[in-house]
Amino acid sequence: MNEIKSFDVERIRQDFPIFNQKIHGKRLTFLDSGASAQKPQAVLDAVQNAYAVTYANVHRGVHHLSQQSTELYENARETVCAHLNAKSIDEIIFTKNTTEAINLVAQSYGQMALKEGDEILLSYLEHHSNIVPWQLAAEKAGATVKAVPIDENGEFLMEEYLKLLSPKTKIVAITHISNAIGTIVPVKEVIEAAHNMEIPVLIDGSQAMPHMKVDVQDLDADFYVFTGHKVFAPTGIGVLYGKNEWLEKMPPYQGGGDMINRVTFEKTTYATGHSKFEAGTPPIVQAIGLGAAIEYLNGFDFDAIAAHEQSLLAYATEQISLLNSVNIIGQAKEKAAIISFTIEGVHPHDIGTIVDQAGVAVRVGHHCAQPLMDFFDVPSTARASMALYNNREDIDALVGSIKMVQEFFG
Ligand code: ALA
Repeated sequence: MNEIKSFDVERIRQDFPIFNQKIHGKRLTFLDSGASAQKPQAVLDAVQNAYAVTYANVHRGVHHLSQQSTELYENARETVCAHLNAKSIDEIIFTKNTTEAINLVAQSYGQMALKEGDEILLSYLEHHSNIVPWQLAAEKAGATVKAVPIDENGEFLMEEYLKLLSPKTKIVAITHISNAIGTIVPVKEVIEAAHNMEIPVLIDGSQAMPHMKVDVQDLDADFYVFTGHKVFAPTGIGVLYGKNEWLEKMPPYQGGGDMINRVTFEKTTYATGHSKFEAGTPPIVQAIGLGAAIEYLNGFDFDAIAAHEQSLLAYATEQISLLNSVNIIGQAKEKAAIISFTIEGVHPHDIGTIVDQAGVAVRVGHHCAQPLMDFFDVPSTARASMALYNNREDIDALVGSIKMVQEFFG
């Protein structure tokens, strides 16, 4: 167990070397962590060490480096397992990212469980990566994709969800936190209601993992997925947590090395546990980096992270609300530190380009959530997404840069 450090944002910022530079001659105001988070020195060091000192392929060699590399790779799995409070390391599968983890479940569970007339239940808050893989699986099986509606604040409508659950529903796949507008979905209730009808649930935790402590046993999630790069780890690594009872029954997603028990031209038998779903040389160093990122995160009290981020969200919401002609899209009561907004008469791409000149990084576009944009009747928004290293100076810089945009457009 790491020693818990007190929450001192100015000290935390020193852990992230990227903040030691100027952008267009200005202080870097990084408000795009929802797209990808910055990396602390501890992660950079773990990656450097894995390539420079311990690097070799895993699970394949009897030589010293292969054994060291395998140990570090498997230690990362144990770190993830403990962090999520999974029952066993066999329930932790390393993937490329969230997208691959969802595709894995959609294809493998889909092949096993979906048939014509079945339904897959999603919500209007989903990222395309939790829509399109299900459409592909539905198309193969002749099943249908349905979506739980939201209200004008971006709240998940629990009553509508309960009405949409039916004996035809074969899986529910819902985001924990909306990437585009920050709504926190009451996923424990979502799971409980589905389980009352013996329906499994996949939760997309991509935006939740950097902000809250997730306990998969407490949630009773059947599948919980997230990506490393949003949780301060490298790109190219994601996690699928799946209950053993499902993973044991599901067919492999991809075939190749390391996922087999015995191969002959006539018949191949598969490895058990997580190995069945990890074909080929895995993202070794990326997984080691993920382990380091989770250890870094575990050095903080999650309540302190949440309190800090919620205070920034409240401050940013208050300051942005004071501005004329700026509309905040998504005002759910339970919200992560994400603010999507539009400025009347200004295209979000122009917002992004102008605030960038002030060193402010936000994401503009549809945020891979076009059904959600359609619901709010906007083609795109500008989105400021915060993380533990942001401070009030960042919010002041954002607000100042929005005023610049307004002045520019008169
Ligand atoms: N899913 C990422 C985002 O929300 C890329 O920006």
